[in-house]
Amino acid sequence: MSPAIGGTLNRVDGRFKVRGESRYSAEVPVTNLAHAVIVNAKIASGRITAIDTSEAERAEGVLAVLTHLNLGRVATVPRLLPSLAGLAAPGQTFFPMQDDLVHYGGQPVAVVVADTIERADHAGTLIRIEYETTPATTLLDQARDRAYVPERIFGGLLPGHSSRGDVAKALAEAEVCVDATYRFAPNHHNPIEPSASTAVWEDVDRLTVYDSTQGPNAVQFTLAELLGRPPISIRVVSHAVGGSFGSKAMVWHHPALAALAARHVGRPVRLVLSREQMFTSCGHREEQEQQITLGARADGRITALRHHKLSLTSPFDDWAEPSLQSPSVAYTSPHYEGVYHLVRGNTITPTFTRAPGEATGMFALECAMDELAERIGIDPLELRLRNYSATDPESGKPWSSSGLTECYQRAAELFGWRDRDPRPRSRRDGQWLIGSGMASALYPVTQPVNPQRSRARLYNDGTAVIEAGVSEFGTGVFTAMTQVAADGLGIPVERVRFVGGSSDLPNVTAAVGSAGTSAVGSAVHLAATQLRDELIRRAVADDHSPLRDADPANVEVHDGKMVLRDRPDVGETYADLMHRTFVPDVEVLGTWNPPPQDVGYGVHTFGAQLAEVAVDADLGVVRVRRMVGVFAPGRVLNRKTAHSQLMGGMLWGLGQALLEATRMDPRLGRWANASLGDYLVPVNADAPDVVVDTIEVHDEVVNPLGMKGVGEIGVVGAAAAIANAVYHATGRRQYELPITLEKLL
Ligand code: MOS
Repeated sequence: MSPAIGGTLNRVDGRFKVRGESRYSAEVPVTNLAHAVIVNAKIASGRITAIDTSEAERAEGVLAVLTHLNLGRVATVPRLLPSLAGLAAPGQTFFPMQDDLVHYGGQPVAVVVADTIERADHAGTLIRIEYETTPATTLLDQARDRAYVPERIFGGLLPGHSSRGDVAKALAEAEVCVDATYRFAPNHHNPIEPSASTAVWEDVDRLTVYDSTQGPNAVQFTLAELLGRPPISIRVVSHAVGGSFGSKAMVWHHPALAALAARHVGRPVRLVLSREQMFTSCGHREEQEQQITLGARADGRITALRHHKLSLTSPFDDWAEPSLQSPSVAYTSPHYEGVYHLVRGNTITPTFTRAPGEATGMFALECAMDELAERIGIDPLELRLRNYSATDPESGKPWSSSGLTECYQRAAELFGWRDRDPRPRSRRDGQWLIGSGMASALYPVTQPVNPQRSRARLYNDGTAVIEAGVSEFGTGVFTAMTQVAADGLGIPVERVRFVGGSSDLPNVTAAVGSAGTSAVGSAVHLAATQLRDELIRRAVADDHSPLRDADPANVEVHDGKMVLRDRPDVGETYADLMHRTFVPDVEVLGTWNPPPQDVGYGVHTFGAQLAEVAVDADLGVVRVRRMVGVFAPGRVLNRKTAHSQLMGGMLWGLGQALLEATRMDPRLGRWANASLGDYLVPVNADAPDVVVDTIEVHDEVVNPLGMKGVGEIGVVGAAAAIANAVYHATGRRQYELPITLEKLL
């Protein structure tokens, strides 16, 4: 369709990043800056009985010490609406430092403001706090008997339970049954840039916050509600974000605390979370357990799926990452039941963590599928093909696009799956037991609920600026938007500048749910093509244009020149037309109205994951030797950045399988390994040969460019493929993530 879309344009912000010129929220130069440091509760449950700040207040450089006694009350804590609504998106419906109660370890109890961050940090240690502690619940095992089924979960978006058919009867009648329970350690996001907010009151009524966020507009709306001010008084700017993975999707307390502190001291205030604070301030993937019961016929056709999840949520919110959604539509299964069970514990409200829910839910399902294949005695890939559903099993509607069977086929070819000996422990390489495993990958196509907007402005030299309020948190969205705009306008990418990262720009939803690029991309596409059409309209109406009276539908634009489709020698450039008619620039606002919830199709993204592992027969060490992932994400805007997203997702899945776990110390109610030294993530030495490929599918339903998103599908299924490979290598099923070596001794 177009020269730029689908190409491999290098990151437009790459040079600035490599040269250290990109500005993160904690690096924006501000004069007269003061620094705030949050002091966290050292207990997990109870209340503050005494707080003595006098020594801290007297410490050198200290400007203020804020506690629940003098912070003031926030106006309203918004409801826990997902940022997909483009509205306020608080991380939880509890705002700290409003009273003396402590609900979780690490809850903010004081904010110290000083002239340097070191002095603020030191003064924080001088605050004397006495607590009265009450028993805390920080592990699922402490409170299983208190589990309840919530009405709705996930910010109210999804029901707490759903079913179709009669699952109990179908399971009773099934010829083969697999029943297994899987346990998942909590996970934290650990972006390389810790969250940071710099708050500047420019005058009494106008606040600018430089914030590290996935959604500047969501921060603006959240601050407006918390501070009781109109949105016009708040501007949120996010120049560059150093990774996020869901930790910066919701709006946590620090931007508001920075704003309140700045207000209090009458100076701009910068608040940067420490690495340790990142473990208690931005949510996490909750500790959870999932039980899968599969019923099937002897030929492997699934007749029933029961999927229950038990997880730990906060005292305030019914949060569960939606682990049941993708598994419920992965295969034909006429009888289904999915139920979320929650336990209230002393924790911050958990949050989106890359592939939120799908990463754990599909792990459970795909490991159970591997067991089913073995029980029936067929190849695991063949089992998936036998259960492939050409329609959405939930609604019965056809998929808007799928490509899943092609993904299986391509992945199997790339991997050499067909030669596999299915017997466990059948391959050895010296001391290493070798095994291979597979899994399906599914991720929903998330749609924003509000209109997405972008502004396109063409100057009379033929260059263009495209604007939208999206922030760049490492996905390459600014680069992809440059491509979409260039193709929409018919000009080279070098003549386009994409500007994002501010709530003053046209509103787009926070970039979540793998839908950031498709949401803003749809708006950019409409803005650019409408601007092109406006210029064509002006040309055909202009007496001096060679295109006078041409049919606009017959005009196309190449390299900034509008020409007749069948006579490319007849035409003129945008620049010529604009100069001749004394027009310095032309601007349009493109608005994309996302399709309604019910589009008459099932909408999901599909893929296949294969992995080969080597397990040390004596030491239990697992090395992933190869990973192959093939996905059908709809239109790919930039092959290079999409490949990076998918590969990064697969390596994230490797981390989920083998390394990532936050360990709770239940005696203290605190995370025991809240550092990058103790919380393990994959590094280059862990990274195997990763093969990523895509299957082209055209999707006319999801959005104007047919994008289904690449941000998270790469994670889904990767851990299951690895766990299934570990079984194949060792003959030992894995029911708990991460698969640490002691589980294989
Ligand atoms: Mo993404 S984990 O949906 O912010």
